[in-house]
Amino acid sequence: MKIRLLGTAAGGGLPQWNCGCVDCTAARRTGAARSQDCLAVSGDGRAWYLVNASPDLRSQLLTAPELAPAPGTRDTPLHGVLLTSGELDHTIGLLTLREAAALTVHATAPVRRALHSAFPVGPLLAPYTKAQWHTVTPGEPVQLAGGLRADPFALGGKRPRYAADLPGEDGPDRTDWVTGYRFTEQDGGACAVYAPGLADWTPAVDRAVAGADVVLLDGTFSTADELAERTGGARRSPGMGHLAVRDSLPHLARNPGPRYLYTHLNNTNPLAHPASPGTAGLLAELAAAGAAVAEDGLLLEL
Ligand code: MLT
Ligand code: MN
Ligand code: ZN
Repeated sequence: MKIRLLGTAAGGGLPQWNCGCVDCTAARRTGAARSQDCLAVSGDGRAWYLVNASPDLRSQLLTAPELAPAPGTRDTPLHGVLLTSGELDHTIGLLTLREAAALTVHATAPVRRALHSAFPVGPLLAPYTKAQWHTVTPGEPVQLAGGLRADPFALGGKRPRYAADLPGEDGPDRTDWVTGYRFTEQDGGACAVYAPGLADWTPAVDRAVAGADVVLLDGTFSTADELAERTGGARRSPGMGHLAVRDSLPHLARNPGPRYLYTHLNNTNPLAHPASPGTAGLLAELAAAGAAVAEDGLLLEL
């Protein structure tokens, strides 16, 4: 299995276009930027799947040699897209894929509904490409080309803000607005887990990470109060569907074995700025737990 991390920042990226904080200013100066969260995964190194489609997708695709078409063709190695949420930072890039001859998108029922109504990507794409939409159901494996299997698991009912008023069959118990995926090779080989939006560490997460080689985990915020402290606002990370790194670290200790990489880092997160004061201590705690911070462009070969 191969995984190319295309982007490792939360919505807005780093630097964020309208932010002049110390860290965004430093990122502008040094070029130590992060693009918005998504990755590409392949079981055989030939058939690739995007997981999430960020607003930065076009430039992300151009940096990944394995995602280039063969010379003289329009035969893309991309076979489809799986979504972990309907959030704008995970879906705007679908519009960037409109030049594709055909496009396969896997998403849960509420995300599919949102992308055909409140944010009508489905209807918008229809005149441009032959899009096929498949419903992802937590607990039901998705068989992909290249000997890859994706096992989706439910991570919570946090809707995108644009879909707050979406009518439908949603009860308060709907838990598949956000999902993670456990990818395995069909022959029982390598295993990787991707969960960039983790509201709580549930028993389903314990099951998903058991025996995995690599776990790519929600690293949006370092602490629950980081956003409020850095921006003067009132929003705390639990209400935003993101378990802070400080609060997921103890679960890593309970689930040793995999290599843990934190991704989807918000630009307020000191972990996104290794040189910033106070980061060294937290990075050392991560290392002690078998964890590190993901980097844009990283290629994992499992
Ligand atoms: C999230 O991850 O919670 C969302 O992408 C936030 C946002 O950018 O609106
Ligand atoms: Mn996000
Ligand atoms: Zn900033």
